[in-house]
Amino acid sequence: MGNIPERQLSRLSTYVAARMGLHFPEERWQNLEQAINLAAGELDCDDGESCIEWLLSSSPTSHQIEILASHLTVGETYFFRDKGLFKALEQPILSELIRHRRSNGKFLRIWSAGCSSGEEPYSIAILLSQMIPDIEDWNISILATDFNARSLQKAVRGVYGPWSFRDVKPEIKKEFFKQTGDGRFELISRVRKMVDFCSLNLVEDSYPSLVNKTNAFDIILCRNVLMYFVGESAQKVVKNLHRSLLEGGLLIVSPIESSVRLFSQFSTVSVRGRIFFKKQGAVGAGDFPARLFETPKPALEPAPNPDPAAAPVFKSVIELLPPRQEEHGGSAMFEVSNTDDPNPKELYEQASALYLAGSYPEAIEKVEKLLLQSSSDAAGWALLTRIYANCGKLDKALECSAKAVSSDKLNAGYHYLMATIFQELDRTEDAAVSLRRALYIDSKFIPAHVALGNICRKSGDHKNAARHFENALFLLNSEPADQVLAESEGINAQRLTEILRLMQQSEIEE
Ligand SMILES: C[S@@+](CC[C@H](N)C(=O)[O-])C[C@H]1O[C@@H](n2cnc3c(N)ncnc32)[C@H](O)[C@@H]1O
Repeated sequence: MGNIPERQLSRLSTYVAARMGLHFPEERWQNLEQAINLAAGELDCDDGESCIEWLLSSSPTSHQIEILASHLTVGETYFFRDKGLFKALEQPILSELIRHRRSNGKFLRIWSAGCSSGEEPYSIAILLSQMIPDIEDWNISILATDFNARSLQKAVRGVYGPWSFRDVKPEIKKEFFKQTGDGRFELISRVRKMVDFCSLNLVEDSYPSLVNKTNAFDIILCRNVLMYFVGESAQKVVKNLHRSLLEGGLLIVSPIESSVRLFSQFSTVSVRGRIFFKKQGAVGAGDFPARLFETPKPALEPAPNPDPAAAPVFKSVIELLPPRQEEHGGSAMFEVSNTDDPNPKELYEQASALYLAGSYPEAIEKVEKLLLQSSSDAAGWALLTRIYANCGKLDKALECSAKAVSSDKLNAGYHYLMATIFQELDRTEDAAVSLRRALYIDSKFIPAHVALGNICRKSGDHKNAARHFENALFLLNSEPADQVLAESEGINAQRLTEILRLMQQSEIEE
């Protein structure tokens, strides 16, 4: 071991477990010591030992934590890592999903959690662009997150050296990359634009959330990430990833991470010999037909209906409610409401708790009861919006958000919520209109500035993007660092400031 006393290394290992989930048992303290010595220089500390003292006695920013993380984590990755998995994804998983969605909304949502320098999400983007000839007509979301800022910057640039292509067919390299002249290869912009990169600490940040679009995924890849985590953090992350999936959606980890105990909320299914963790739901939930999976089934049992429209998972509260509420009771609504039900406030609290626990059908039941008692309860409609959005029922989410807006027209948050649903539906113009409405009502509504900035940035309007981001940063400056922002589902002022700075930086570098 080096110069740092073991007592200090032990304290540091507890700290990195809590803040990043990373597991550094005594056998790995040597690596921990090397990492803190390297990080010390970047964090303006004299040496590793004083850096530990500083970390433990102050409140480092997320960016400083990310610097430390970049020395503690392994970013090793390459295109089409694990060919067998990509074969199973192509045929039958994605091909079946695409076939189903072709007549059911033409959308796909995939998340690469712990994406490092981007080779994994870009491999998915390449695969999808090979598989979907009319891809411009589809709403494809590929979210890629990591907490290592340097890796994300490399990912956004999309330029790679030969080592990233160690398992790639030459045809793919030829079709999707351009030589840069210095022996490296740049991914073509059409495919680069398919992936959204975002900074997210899987252990500390909140998800699923409409704000960072970490909701309602068909597939989440979280490969070669969980194996570095302490047990408790791994459990927390897996639980949140479970909530971020649609019913029937798939979580993919690497073969060495497939501990069945950790994934007990999922059912285990196998395709072409690969293990996938499937979020269980009502029979027929999800858009992956059951016949895809190699789990043994009784021979004569009829296959569950794979079409959720034919076997609805959730009742629609909109269909339940009468068109309008009578002024003085006596409406159908009050007749069906049970007098033994808790009052609206209690129902709202119960529904929120169920929503946070990911128990969506039960949460819907509670909100339905609440809305039967009080059909213009804007907060109830907003909660229902979020629940449906997390279940991937975007049309219903949109209807509910419209009800929230019409129940409380002067609430900027509800216009913003409606905008997030429009964005998920790829209705960017409508989203921009709702965001402008939110800012008209409350010009200091930070999340709306950020979202409008993102819309401008994506459309290539860098000038207005910069203006919105500057407005957001200016407003954030007067918020306490730990202030959780309205409608942000848990993001605090300091974290959002850091995310915006990172985005500004990658704008400059692009
Ligand atoms: C070995 S790479 C995996 C890359 C890719 N998924 C693959 O399998 O090729 C692990 C990545 O997980 C990221 N990571 C580790 N802990 C994390 C955390 N708490 N939050 C977000 N990312 C994390 C690291 O920064 C690193 O980029």
